Amino acid sequence: MAVEYDEIGIWSEVKLAIIREYASAYSRILESQRGKSLPKLRWLYVDAYAGPGFHLSRTTKEMVDGSPQIALKTIPPFSEYHFIDADPKRAEQLRGIAGTREDVYIYGADCNQILLDKVFPRAKYSDYHRALCLLDPYNINLKWEVIETAGKMESVEIFLNFMIMDINRNVLTKNPDKAIQSKKEQLTRLWGDESWIAAAYDTTGNLFGDPEKVSNERFEAAWRERLKTKAGFKFVSKPMPMKTKTNSVIYYLYFASQKEAGMDVVTDIFNKYRRKQGL
Ligand SMILES: C[S@@+](CC[C@H](N)C(=O)[O-])C[C@H]1O[C@@H](n2cnc3c(N)ncnc32)[C@H](O)[C@@H]1O
Repeated sequence: MAVEYDEIGIWSEVKLAIIREYASAYSRILESQRGKSLPKLRWLYVDAYAGPGFHLSRTTKEMVDGSPQIALKTIPPFSEYHFIDADPKRAEQLRGIAGTREDVYIYGADCNQILLDKVFPRAKYSDYHRALCLLDPYNINLKWEVIETAGKMESVEIFLNFMIMDINRNVLTKNPDKAIQSKKEQLTRLWGDESWIAAAYDTTGNLFGDPEKVSNERFEAAWRERLKTKAGFKFVSKPMPMKTKTNSVIYYLYFASQKEAGMDVVTDIFNKYRRKQGL
């Protein structure tokens, strides 16, 4: 059966442009470090929610490269590419794109398991291996253990899509009785524990101490703090808010790294796109 492509809006195109620019800067920096004094250095591109490799642009109605294609076209190239997609048809499509290349690894399974069991062990700091990992889910099915492992490894930088719209619609509902139990459990797995409840509600603002949902900005700031203090990333960007036409935030795109140099490059890229989008 043929693979189905997603029609993507302007914000997804912005996300892809950001990935394109940073992947190229990252690979250039690593290549130059290898040339200077670290001949054993290898750098991996890891796409945990890879998608089928192409999308249909809502703006131009043309096919555009998805994140795996962008990574494969990056110059200088990465030493290895790891593409994971749980949808078997999409994984098959990615196999077709990779062809006989021995530097491309495709996995048709849940990325949470694959990252921990197969991919991150290939990105050990002590082996002089480094990785740029894109965590770009449709919803909140990513697990905290993955994020924390990436942070503690010190060799892995991440772009992370935090799906605030899924959280607002299904967990932090105006009427708490409408929250979906399985989604609450999913948020606990993403957050790492139940402290998201304290981060999401404020009881100090009104007379009766009834919990009131905090703003998106306050909730994301708590998440950002967690990436630093619990996962151990030294540098975590202020996120890019990716929005609908009507200006609601669909997700926040974060960058987290141990390296100030990476952070500086991403700050410039984010600022450029913030200005372009009038943020
Ligand atoms: C937002 S799309 C990825 C888009 C892609 N990063 C890009 O920018 O071109 C999310 C993809 O994740 C896949 N997916 C969903 N749950 C997954 C999981 N647990 N593990 C791996 N892939 C998953 C879906 O099949 C879908 O193709």
